[in-house]
Amino acid sequence: MKTKDNLLFSLKERKGNWVSGELLSGELSVTRAAVCKHVRNLRQEGYDIESSTRKGYLLRGVTDRLLPHEIQDGLNTRTFGKGDILYFEETDSTNLKAKELAARGAPEGTVVIAEKQTCGRGRKQRVWFSPSGDGIYLSLVLRPPIPPNQAPRITLMTAVAVADALLSATGLPVRIKWPNDILVHGKKLAGILTEISTEMDAVDFVVVGLGLNVNTPIERFPQQIRGRATSILVESGKPCPRARIVRSYLEHFESRYEKLATEGFAPIMDRWRALTDVVGRRVSVKVINKEFVGQVTSVDNDGVLVVRDDEGESHRIFSGDLYFQE
Ligand code: BTN
Repeated sequence: MKTKDNLLFSLKERKGNWVSGELLSGELSVTRAAVCKHVRNLRQEGYDIESSTRKGYLLRGVTDRLLPHEIQDGLNTRTFGKGDILYFEETDSTNLKAKELAARGAPEGTVVIAEKQTCGRGRKQRVWFSPSGDGIYLSLVLRPPIPPNQAPRITLMTAVAVADALLSATGLPVRIKWPNDILVHGKKLAGILTEISTEMDAVDFVVVGLGLNVNTPIERFPQQIRGRATSILVESGKPCPRARIVRSYLEHFESRYEKLATEGFAPIMDRWRALTDVVGRRVSVKVINKEFVGQVTSVDNDGVLVVRDDEGESHRIFSGDLYFQE
């Protein structure tokens, strides 16, 4: 570990208590001037460290940046986030970066995270609003031993992991809107973009991207999405430490992903159905050049939406954009 990391560790160990510069320099085997320099660097990273000539240093608060060691501090997973976490102050798109890394052999569990995206992408070539420091823009590399036609399962599984992570970390009444939007009080809090690379008839890798609005004030959303989007800050009225949400997500994701391999997909769909309000609702669903209007009668064990139209005919819909009609 580098001196700066050791210093942070020493300060964290005594969080809430003062520690003298002399003691720190002895503990870290560096000069007091070096301690002073590293404290300055940590402050620049966003750590709130108070200093006093008499008492030394006091760590008042950690940074809100999604630095890899902050995410890993207290992370309870085996694979996801335990190996490489690639951190960018700014990047075009974490999904693009993760795909490049995966194509060069990055292992399952690799995490790519950014404070800001200049080209954040949503489903259907849409833009994902990705302002600096407000949200979570995170992509995971997976190498699931499944045939390509089962890849949509990963998206549905991710929606369950995101919803459960948010429920346990924030208590907000999160719901899933088919196929994979995460809503609170009918507004979009998070979205998932899954991209797949195949070789012959097998999956080479899957990249799962999560965009989640955490500390975005309502007035910061662009006018076009302000009425439809929300954030944890808007819903709960208080800012939320983003690293806590990332840890909760990685833990729920890993647990669901491992169970997918051992117990199959049915338990995931049971949980998915418990987290959605779509069944029984009147909806319109846009599918490329068609639109279906009717009542949702079920979402089956493959995640297929079943809509009964006004003539009583049932339609099985594999993918599309769903709008509630009432
Ligand atoms: C959607 O609801 O349309 C999906 C949005 C997915 C956005 C995330 S942000 C992290 C990752 N990188 C991207 O460019 N997109 C996904």
